[in-house]
Amino acid sequence: MNLIISDTAEEMAQRVADGVSAYMTFRTNPLFCPASGDTPAALYREMQARAKANRLDVSNWHFIGLDEWVGMNGADEGSCRYYLDRDLFHPLMIRKERICFFDGRADDPARECARGESFIKEHGGIDVAILGIGTNGHIAMNEPGTSPEVRCHVSVLHPSTQATGQKYFPSYQTLTCGITLGLGDILEARHLYLLAIGEHKAAIVQKALEGPISEVLPASLLRGHPSLHVHLDRAAAGKLSNNKE
Ligand code: PGA
Repeated sequence: MNLIISDTAEEMAQRVADGVSAYMTFRTNPLFCPASGDTPAALYREMQARAKANRLDVSNWHFIGLDEWVGMNGADEGSCRYYLDRDLFHPLMIRKERICFFDGRADDPARECARGESFIKEHGGIDVAILGIGTNGHIAMNEPGTSPEVRCHVSVLHPSTQATGQKYFPSYQTLTCGITLGLGDILEARHLYLLAIGEHKAAIVQKALEGPISEVLPASLLRGHPSLHVHLDRAAAGKLSNNKE
């Protein structure tokens, strides 16, 4: 595990963007898996700035969405797709055919899962996944207790995920389930970037990085991955036993 502590979200964004683009530049048809949420926002701003300055070329990239709330798609303000359209896909002018994203409004969520799995296969596996961590230790919508082997599935959301998820929406939403890539899919990605910002993440980051590796805390399972890059700001790193860079 490569642990990097930054002073600010912007500094973190630059470091992650450096790592991601150094790798992706040498792939012929790379597959990028971006998380939504507050944490990667600075990274996506940095990617936009680099693309605008011709320092980042994503024209040969494909994209697989990490997760989506059941009952929502890009038409719903606050959905995962809504955020990524706004912060990444539209500013980078990504063509629709290059994106596979779960439609949480689809009648058959199992078909959505199969669609996601085959897109990943068709594009030779995920090259880089950008991940956040929930305050309960979830990764994407893989909640505590999820097996590391599980693949794309509909997950029943933990009460804390239902509650913290409200922050993305302009009005109260019933958030019961999500469609998510499974830990099995995520752990097969070639490179994982786990990002955490803020003091409210410090306790779960400490447990995930220094506590037992267990399904009880899905983020801890990432420590078994051969290319895990953990990027924290000083506040999120505040409870680690050794938090000096
Ligand atoms: P956040 O969400 O980036 O909005 O804190 C992280 C997560 O729940 O995975």
